[in-house]
Amino acid sequence: MVFPMVPKVIIHNSISIDGSFSSFEPNMELHYRIAGMFKPDMHLIGSNTVKTGIELYGAGVPPEEASDFEKPKRNKAFPAWVVVDSKGTLEGMLHTCRRFELCRDVIVLVSQTTPQRYLRYLDERHYDYHCIGRDSVDLRKALNLLSKEYHVKTLLADTGRILGNLLLNQGLVDEISLLVHPVVVGKKSYNMFKDITRNLTMTLVKCERLEKQYIWLVYQVKKKESSPT
Ligand SMILES: NC(=O)c1ccc[n+]([C@@H]2O[C@H](COP(=O)([O-])OP(=O)(O)OC[C@H]3O[C@@H](n4cnc5c(N)ncnc54)[C@H](OP(=O)(O)O)[C@@H]3O)[C@@H](O)[C@H]2O)c1
Repeated sequence: MVFPMVPKVIIHNSISIDGSFSSFEPNMELHYRIAGMFKPDMHLIGSNTVKTGIELYGAGVPPEEASDFEKPKRNKAFPAWVVVDSKGTLEGMLHTCRRFELCRDVIVLVSQTTPQRYLRYLDERHYDYHCIGRDSVDLRKALNLLSKEYHVKTLLADTGRILGNLLLNQGLVDEISLLVHPVVVGKKSYNMFKDITRNLTMTLVKCERLEKQYIWLVYQVKKKESSPT
């Protein structure tokens, strides 16, 4: 079978009517129900998103147990979570992700400047990790790697503004899925597209009303740049 050079990348986010990522209570059940509809092979997640997720929705970081040092034995049909973490931000916390029953396992993307101590932490716990990029993770090369090594065809970026905007600015995104919540957050807005550096043209491919008050929009991003590598 021939696999494409880069997977199809879908950014999926819950936003307020005024385009904020945060400062409101997202409907997590609906958010993840929609995420599952894309049948992603993997989820791509930024380190800040994991860290804030633990702070906002978790009950802190529980002490590690022996099972946290082993790869979980889960259904291979479940998506793996790929975390971009070149600074070692998630040292001591990754088991909170690995424990999610619907996560096949956690794969970590690091760079040449990642602290050795963090690499030892990953080794000791048998996490797959890949060094790809000098200071930060080279996202285009990372997508190539996920396609080649893991045969990923569909990647769901369930992440915040920083990583999402980097992917968009580098022309790596195929679709944007937005679950619009019936709330305006105004001055507290953490705008989803604030770091976009050029106009992006989209084609609306889905517009559905869900549970009476939510709108699910899916846009196809036009003029995706082809991979030079
Ligand atoms: N409403 C939603 O659907 C939703 C979903 C997810 C998150 N959020 C919200 O978004 C916020 C967290 O997101 P965020 O915007 O702070 O961060 P984020 O999207 O988690 O992005 C940070 C990630 O970007 C990577 N990065 C930064 N510069 C890079 C570069 N030059 N090249 C490659 N990678 C780079 C970082 O990697 P390193 O660690 O390697 O530096 C890190 O993994 C929270 O408020 C969270 O609640 C909302």
